[in-house]
Amino acid sequence: MEGLKITSLLQRFAYILPLALLSIGVVKADNPFVQTIYTADPAPIVYNDRVYVFMDHDNTGATYYNMTDWHLFSTADMANWQDHGVPMSLANFTWANANAWAPQVISRNGQFYFYAPVRHNDGSMAIGVGVSSTITGPYHDALGKPLVENNEIDPTVFIDDDGQAYLYWGNPDLWYVKLNQDMISYSGSPTQIPLTTAGFGTRTGNAQRPTTFEEAPWVYKRNGIYYIIYAADCCSEDIRYSTGTSATGPWTYRGVIMPTQGGSFTNHEGIIDFQNNSYFFYHNGALPGGGGYQRSVCVEQFTYNSDGTIPTIEMTTAGPSQIGTLNPYVRQEAETAAWSSGVSTEVSSEGGIDVGYINNGDYIKVKGVAFGSGAHSFSARVASAASGGTIAIHLGSTTGTLVGTCNVPSTGGWQTWTTVTCSVSGASGTQDLYFVFGGSGTGYLFNFDYWQFA
Ligand SMILES: *[C@@H]1O[C@H](CO)[C@@H](O)[C@H](O)[C@H]1NC(C)=O
Ligand SMILES: *[C@@H]1O[C@H](CO)[C@@H](O)[C@H](O)[C@H]1NC(C)=O
Ligand SMILES: *[C@@H]1O[C@H](CO)[C@@H](O)[C@H](O)[C@H]1NC(C)=O
Repeated sequence: MEGLKITSLLQRFAYILPLALLSIGVVKADNPFVQTIYTADPAPIVYNDRVYVFMDHDNTGATYYNMTDWHLFSTADMANWQDHGVPMSLANFTWANANAWAPQVISRNGQFYFYAPVRHNDGSMAIGVGVSSTITGPYHDALGKPLVENNEIDPTVFIDDDGQAYLYWGNPDLWYVKLNQDMISYSGSPTQIPLTTAGFGTRTGNAQRPTTFEEAPWVYKRNGIYYIIYAADCCSEDIRYSTGTSATGPWTYRGVIMPTQGGSFTNHEGIIDFQNNSYFFYHNGALPGGGGYQRSVCVEQFTYNSDGTIPTIEMTTAGPSQIGTLNPYVRQEAETAAWSSGVSTEVSSEGGIDVGYINNGDYIKVKGVAFGSGAHSFSARVASAASGGTIAIHLGSTTGTLVGTCNVPSTGGWQTWTTVTCSVSGASGTQDLYFVFGGSGTGYLFNFDYWQFA
């Protein structure tokens, strides 16, 4: 259970929401790319031809950043995102008691290392490190105590070409430490990066913080240039950056990447190259009911300037273009979606995640599905403790061409799975696919684990 569904929140507060917000649920936008929960602080990593994004999970209705778990989504095409659930929880750091904040994961030695700020039982913010042999987790606490602790936050991790790994973090200061090969210990002491106006720009009206650096550093190297991207000039924050000639600077201030936009007074970036494109991840408050404590992760495609500088990047609802297409003739997970409305996800008894909490009228959009010369049948793995319902298969929109309808029976349990099959006609070429869920009554209808066309 993820607590209140976003749609039920929307229904509860519909009378106070402006119409513009209400319409977000029905436009065919692909940003924010997670719609089932509120999320923040995206940390992308490319692994095995997929982009994995670790993120925070904002609680519905929270008025402070007292989050308790992290979530993971991945994509092969930058349009359809698969929900991997919770790879790591606050509870896994037994020495911590609150504030599961901005994480980052890196791969080394055939292991994956998960760095995140949490509140130590002693009341101070500290950075813990989790480890897993698979990218999707589960991650366990590698040390049983903080890796570093100085009441500052927002770790970013980077391995230079010579093999030296660095952990950077900070708010209000900016720190780094040289990680050892094991990635869970370090040599020397934490070192402060001088926050000079030449390195990080000039902030006006804040004597304590004369440079624009606020928090959320993200460090990487590309074509010989070291980059440190950060949230700047609180509050509301924008995203700025500096470049350097080594992993430890000196740093030169380069200006704003993403202006203040989007209804969240914080922001946090993550940058990757994938399939020869460059992508910028961030968060805003764009989902219904969204705002500073109910944020949502988004992504934009961009192109570096020829000198390696980064152009201004604006928030959009369209997001990046899809890379290639999705194959409907192999098993696809129900929790892989370009957009969903009304549904939530949960752990499936068959492994992985299923889509649940389905009400009449809820839907899932899958983008760019390559049917080729045509499908003749559709199979879905479903379960229902209620009386079931229907999956109506539409093309192009929730009211576009209906190519088939599958009936879902009662199976006697929400995790008692069966496969249903129905005939399909008129599904050919490359199409946006919509599963529109139907059924009588006001309760949940059925759960949906995976699907495949033939
Ligand atoms: C923390 O989160 C819980 C669950 O969302 C909520 O009940 C509680 O009021 C929150 N506390 C603060 C200080 O916001
Ligand atoms: C992490 O914590 C969750 C929630 O308490 C628990 O279910 C899970 O088993 C823990 N994972 C590990 C690897 O300890
Ligand atoms: C990326 O660019 C390289 C070199 O131009 C090319 O060989 C490769 O096919 C490209 N890959 C993709 C996925 O476009």
